[in-house]
Amino acid sequence: MTTARTILRQWRTDDLPLFAALNADREVMRHFPTSLDRAQSDAVAHRLAQHLETHGFGPWAMEIPGVTPFAGFVGLMRVGFDAPFVPAVEIGWRLARAWWSKGYATEAATAAARYAFDTLGMDDLVSFTVPANVRSRAVMQRIGMRHCPDEDFLHPLVPPGHRLRRHVLYRLNADELKA
Ligand SMILES: CC(C)(COP(=O)(O)OP(=O)(O)OC[C@H]1O[C@@H](n2cnc3c(N)ncnc32)[C@H](O)[C@@H]1OP(=O)(O)O)[C@@H](O)C(=O)NCCC(=O)NCCS
Repeated sequence: MTTARTILRQWRTDDLPLFAALNADREVMRHFPTSLDRAQSDAVAHRLAQHLETHGFGPWAMEIPGVTPFAGFVGLMRVGFDAPFVPAVEIGWRLARAWWSKGYATEAATAAARYAFDTLGMDDLVSFTVPANVRSRAVMQRIGMRHCPDEDFLHPLVPPGHRLRRHVLYRLNADELKA
């Protein structure tokens, strides 16, 4: 899939070192329990690529032609844990810090959501993060998502009492998606 400035594509082996670098960056991983070492990062990439293979959609590797062969990922993923809003498909993003503040996440997420609604025929997408992740929440808002406070939840994979357990839930349907 292409957007004005990006390509969303299947993962390649040469993405792995760049993905590992962003997963080792504490600022990128500030709202996750830990940063990742190379083996953990490769395992995540494998899981994301596998999702794409299996479902025909997923968290695509994002390329910015003429700028970088791999900036991070943006895309769609079936929510893999139990929660009141599941089953659901999540829209998510993670970019290397060098590519923040340029509108790339918003541009690619808009295209991914458009694909979900127009090509895949999905009715609804969700996104979630910790309340403090203002950058991610800003992407959600820019693409037209609405916060559903009644559906905020405690992430079942984060231990009780952990600072990252509480999550805010956003939803999006085709009518709400901003062009
Ligand atoms: C979440 C994340 C992808 C957001 O990145 P981002 O750079 O803030 O978002 P965008 O790419 O949409 O860029 C928006 C910024 O570019 C600016 N911008 C420039 N051109 C733009 C354009 N054409 N369209 C939209 N915004 C544009 C916006 O004003 C905004 O500026 P700001 O940084 O001063 O707020 C990034 O912070 C990240 O990877 N974080 C770590 C991983 C993470 O937490 N992921 C989410 C887990 S739920």
